[in-house]
Amino acid sequence: MMGTLCLCLDLALLLQMKFLRAKLGRPPKWLLMWVSVTSMRHSSIKMKRRSARPSERRWRMLWSTFLRPEFVQPALEKSLTKLGLDYVDLFIIHWPVAMKSGDEILPKDASGKIIFDTVDLRDTWEALEKCKDAGLTKSIGVSNFNHKQLEMILNKPGLKYKPVCNQVECHPYLNQSKLLEFCKSKDIVLVAYSALGSHRDPNWVEKDSPYLLEDPILNAVAKKHKRSPGQIALRYQVQRGVVVLAKSFNEKRIKENFQIFEFELTPEDMKAIDGLNRNFRYAKLLSAVDHPYYPFSEEY
Ligand SMILES: NC(=O)c1ccc[n+]([C@@H]2O[C@H](COP(=O)([O-])OP(=O)(O)OC[C@H]3O[C@@H](n4cnc5c(N)ncnc54)[C@H](OP(=O)(O)O)[C@@H]3O)[C@@H](O)[C@H]2O)c1
Repeated sequence: MMGTLCLCLDLALLLQMKFLRAKLGRPPKWLLMWVSVTSMRHSSIKMKRRSARPSERRWRMLWSTFLRPEFVQPALEKSLTKLGLDYVDLFIIHWPVAMKSGDEILPKDASGKIIFDTVDLRDTWEALEKCKDAGLTKSIGVSNFNHKQLEMILNKPGLKYKPVCNQVECHPYLNQSKLLEFCKSKDIVLVAYSALGSHRDPNWVEKDSPYLLEDPILNAVAKKHKRSPGQIALRYQVQRGVVVLAKSFNEKRIKENFQIFEFELTPEDMKAIDGLNRNFRYAKLLSAVDHPYYPFSEEY
């Protein structure tokens, strides 16, 4: 089980590292950074240290309750202490919508509604810049930002460091071609999550959402290459210059997901998969739709 967990993390991270090392010449410590800043459970590192209670594990990311600038560095320091590290390679803002700060991961009012906060993301960004200057992280980036929010950071007076990446939902049904083009033009790496059509967590994903990996065109391309639809969905991203995350707890699929560097999709395959785009988002996070920084109302 431990090995499987480790591999499951390594896969997503390896795909990123492979691409990023090629692009940026960065060392494999990207493995460590992602663990700290996304919702991954950072099991591979934890294993070498001590086991953490599930409630503790959730604190190991820049969660939305820590977007106020005064909480950013303490949050990272807390993660580092728990990870037993001096620094991470990347620290990202997980989601632009702030929630009320405090001990609750999902602060809710008496009626069960999430309590949001309004924090100027430029102030949060400055706090991330300070973390980099303090040597606590090598690079800083964002997640779930639309192009206007990226521009807001890029145009911030006195910007010291720009985001190195933007991690967003991206798969053939939501191929993010405009956001990808925008990110490439600004030299920001687009990182794809839910690249296999998500793990369909009922907390975030509607039951009747389409099953990406059952798509007939994806399956036809898979059959042609004697590969699985999952491999095609991952390979598609790599070929368009996207760093792709893939999560699995299944040993066979983990191995399979590593084998996407053994084949190549033709331009016709890529075009056919491009044609599947329908701007369908699995995780809409509609509870935040009225927040001024809700990112998904913009076209891209
Ligand atoms: N920044 C963000 O806001 C954000 C949001 C969501 C996710 N993420 C990150 O993105 C990562 C992955 O996203 P995700 O979990 O939403 O979804 P995903 O990677 O699209 O899908 C995971 C699901 O696909 C299955 N799977 C894996 N490989 C497969 C294959 N070759 N063929 C068929 N099925 C396969 C897995 O099941 P088995 O385990 O049974 O193989 C799992 O149920 C997560 O680790 C998370 O850290 C980030």
